[in-house]
Amino acid sequence: MQQSQRWKWSKKKTQFPALVFVLFLFIAFSNLHRERSILKIQESPDLVLHRQDSFTFVKPNLFTLQNHAPGVLNRFSTCNSTREYSGQKILWTARTPEYGHRRESLERCDVFSGKWVFDNASYPLYKESDCPYMSDQLACHKHGRPDLGYQYWRWQPHNCNLKRWNVTEMWEKLRGKRLMFVGDSLNRGQWISMVCLLQSVIPADKRSMSPNADLTIFQAEEYNATVEFLWAPLLVESNSDDPVNHRTSDRIIRPDSVLKHASVWEDADILIFNSYLWWRQGPVKLLWSAEANSVCEEVDGLGAMELAMGAWADWASKINPLKKRVFFVTTSPTHLWSREWKPESEGNCYGEKSPIDSEGYWGSGSDLPTMNMVEKVLNKLSSKVSVINITQLSEYRKDGHPSIYRKFWEPLRPEQLSNPMSYSDCIHWCLPGVPDVWNELLFQFFSCALRTGPATVNAGVTQFDSLKI
Ligand SMILES: *[C@@H]1O[C@H](CO)[C@@H](O)[C@H](O)[C@H]1NC(C)=O
Ligand SMILES: *[C@@H]1O[C@H](CO)[C@@H](O)[C@H](O)[C@H]1NC(C)=O
Ligand SMILES: *[C@@H]1O[C@H](CO)[C@@H](O)[C@H](O)[C@H]1NC(C)=O
Ligand SMILES: *[C@@H]1O[C@H](CO)[C@@H](O)[C@H](O)[C@H]1NC(C)=O
Ligand SMILES: *[C@@H]1O[C@H](CO)[C@@H](O)[C@H](O)[C@H]1NC(C)=O
Repeated sequence: MQQSQRWKWSKKKTQFPALVFVLFLFIAFSNLHRERSILKIQESPDLVLHRQDSFTFVKPNLFTLQNHAPGVLNRFSTCNSTREYSGQKILWTARTPEYGHRRESLERCDVFSGKWVFDNASYPLYKESDCPYMSDQLACHKHGRPDLGYQYWRWQPHNCNLKRWNVTEMWEKLRGKRLMFVGDSLNRGQWISMVCLLQSVIPADKRSMSPNADLTIFQAEEYNATVEFLWAPLLVESNSDDPVNHRTSDRIIRPDSVLKHASVWEDADILIFNSYLWWRQGPVKLLWSAEANSVCEEVDGLGAMELAMGAWADWASKINPLKKRVFFVTTSPTHLWSREWKPESEGNCYGEKSPIDSEGYWGSGSDLPTMNMVEKVLNKLSSKVSVINITQLSEYRKDGHPSIYRKFWEPLRPEQLSNPMSYSDCIHWCLPGVPDVWNELLFQFFSCALRTGPATVNAGVTQFDSLKI
């Protein structure tokens, strides 16, 4: 009786530790770290305020390091004081699409709508132990996961087939280019997946990986290409920009500037952005560029994310899509409450061995108001940014998370060990696994035709292909 009580997962009692644990999970996975991030952009420092209806609009991305009144944010930054959100919004305007076509050009076949099919003949696309760049946070088999089913699922769109992953073809597209992932630990997982998918055909002495830092670079000599990851979990400048020692509570952002990170990502040829989970942890403090006395404002996560997306969109709206390809990866869902797919149960993703098969399943891990806001922004940018909409397909994959089968950075306490559910990671994804499929979807955008089915290529993809990206 006592035993079973202990194993029970009372909602009320454990909600708080669970949230704390979510925060804990954001602690990155290396001790190495190096300072970089020197700004080199020079622009006019004028701050333009526009009054429109009852909002005050701030024009973003004007202040640079040289003319930053309050200095660069780092993890020691604090607010002098905090007042209520003034209601200032970011002013950015989508330019008329000079290039005519929507970038998400696989639209005749919605590759994001489909189902998971067990396929142990073609999957996994690589072996966990064959990838020297695998992260201990994601190597589930190595950390004792006994069931390997999560590695064997193929994503099957309803109306067409995905082109098969072809590593040589992908390298040809990447020749002479910099591919950069920018975002949080979920995006880092996708980057590691990409490196694992790509590295096998490169001889060991012809490839290298730089030490973990703000920017981490995988390089393949013979293709003169790099696959990089830039840690920027909140897109805009923040006090959480150190990839190892970041702040998870008391987050302060510079809501009106991506310039610090943009100075790093500016020269990449292909950019893959994400941002979501870091906005889901309660209120965020805003330190506007024009604020000289470190007086912050405070706003809820969704409001803060909308500002950051605005500052990012202002940057994205100015790219030339013939020179640079930009992708945004949507919300990666979490599976923290098993009652959402198995009513009356009191667990999380721990012990789950197969995907959810109810079509259209949607759990609380993918916040709809956030998704709607992001969709609105991305719709306005449709001629510049392609969307990799991983949310629905990943919602099905309650079996894909590491749960207890990963390296944990803090020693586990006896009460945790006696209740594995209590320390399960139901946020990140095992590799090989779900993020490999996100990259296969990316590969569809890099290739010109879908194999069979009603899908055809429209002008957008052809255009992209002519870029040889
Ligand atoms: C694939 O799975 C089937 C059914 O579970 C099994 O019989 C078969 O041996 C597996 N094949 C491989 C290559 O693992
Ligand atoms: C993979 O791509 C390369 C280069 O485009 C091509 O030569 C090769 O036939 C492809 N392999 C498969 C299995 O399709
Ligand atoms: C390698 O690629 C870079 C662009 O990323 C280019 O500037 C450089 O000329 C290339 N080098 C060679 C040897 O092709
Ligand atoms: C805090 O505010 C006071 C005045 O309100 C100012 O003198 C001081 O420089 C501010 N501190 C910082 C770190 O900006
Ligand atoms: C992604 O797909 C979901 C439905 O599967 C939709 O609700 C969401 O708005 C889409 N996001 C974007 C940015 O298109």
